[in-house]
Amino acid sequence: MARAPLIDGHGRRIGDLRLSVTDRCNFRCQYCMPAEGLPWLDRDEVLRFEEIERIVALLAEMGVRDLRLTGGEPLVRRDFPQLVRMLAPLVDDLSITTNGYLLERDADALVAAGANRFNVSIDSLQRDRFFEMTRRDALPRVLAGLRALAAHPEAHPIKVNAVAMRGFTEEEVIPFAEFAREHPYEVRFIEFMPLDAGHAWSPDQVLTGEEIRAAIHAVYPLEPEPREPHATARTYRFADGRGRIGFINPVSEPFCGDCNRIRITAEGRLRTCLFSLNETDLRGPIRAGADDDELEAIIRAAVWRKELKHRVNEPGFVQPDRPMSAIGG
Ligand code: 5AD
Ligand code: SF4
Repeated sequence: MARAPLIDGHGRRIGDLRLSVTDRCNFRCQYCMPAEGLPWLDRDEVLRFEEIERIVALLAEMGVRDLRLTGGEPLVRRDFPQLVRMLAPLVDDLSITTNGYLLERDADALVAAGANRFNVSIDSLQRDRFFEMTRRDALPRVLAGLRALAAHPEAHPIKVNAVAMRGFTEEEVIPFAEFAREHPYEVRFIEFMPLDAGHAWSPDQVLTGEEIRAAIHAVYPLEPEPREPHATARTYRFADGRGRIGFINPVSEPFCGDCNRIRITAEGRLRTCLFSLNETDLRGPIRAGADDDELEAIIRAAVWRKELKHRVNEPGFVQPDRPMSAIGG
């Protein structure tokens, strides 16, 4: 059944859902989680596979055709490939954001289940610095996972995401550029956002995409590619034709204007922005027996109030209580 397109109060048509399948994670990245972890949701608080399937199917009828599954770390959810198999037929594009730790185990099953794009987070190509940032000594295992994924032509182009923090990422920049030139991976630097559990973010800790781009360009000249509509990344190709690199600059160059994304947390709350201060419960109505038309009305009302833009750079900005792991990147 086709329903009317999902549109917000600023005229933006929503086509992209980022859905968190678990709040749990096997890493403790500095910019996301405290070392001791967070109080996890109880199992029955988390959306069940059938509930997720129902929400995704309903949103697909409203024109949401891109689905990204996130966490926490999505691969720690039990039987996650089975969920992918349930959801892939409902959308045009199903992507997964993962820290890569379990990819060696799951890459084959996830590709077979219909996942067609992957973002693997790697913040350093040096083992000790990777450990420092993620609090897990797991770089060799993550790289093995990346290779397991790269064996599948259907999964290309594979994106490798690095959070850029001043005082840490500078010495990673050229090695990552070389990594992108030597492997079939598109490396993308993401500016550090105020979504860390410790609320320790400050503007001077953001290493901007433009600074990184200039540093790479000085060694390996870059040429800009046209920006795709709704894109978060600005992409460049190396002028000699070897590889691509991208910059996600939400802090220094916000891209809210044509944002077409909404998010759903692991416990079924709809968030219309990463930086939303309020959210809309979908799990309650679902478990109370709401039918699809009722659910549609709840979703439309929430999406209508989608924030025009984030206010990270404005005085009085309030960081959301939830860190990234509890929202879903
Ligand atoms: N700022 C920017 N990116 C972040 N991520 C997690 N926390 C932050 C933050 N505070 C990224 C992860 C991963 C994705 C899920 O979000 O590195 O790539
Ligand atoms: Fe886990 Fe991702 Fe947060 Fe790191 S950034 S702690 S991998 S959820």
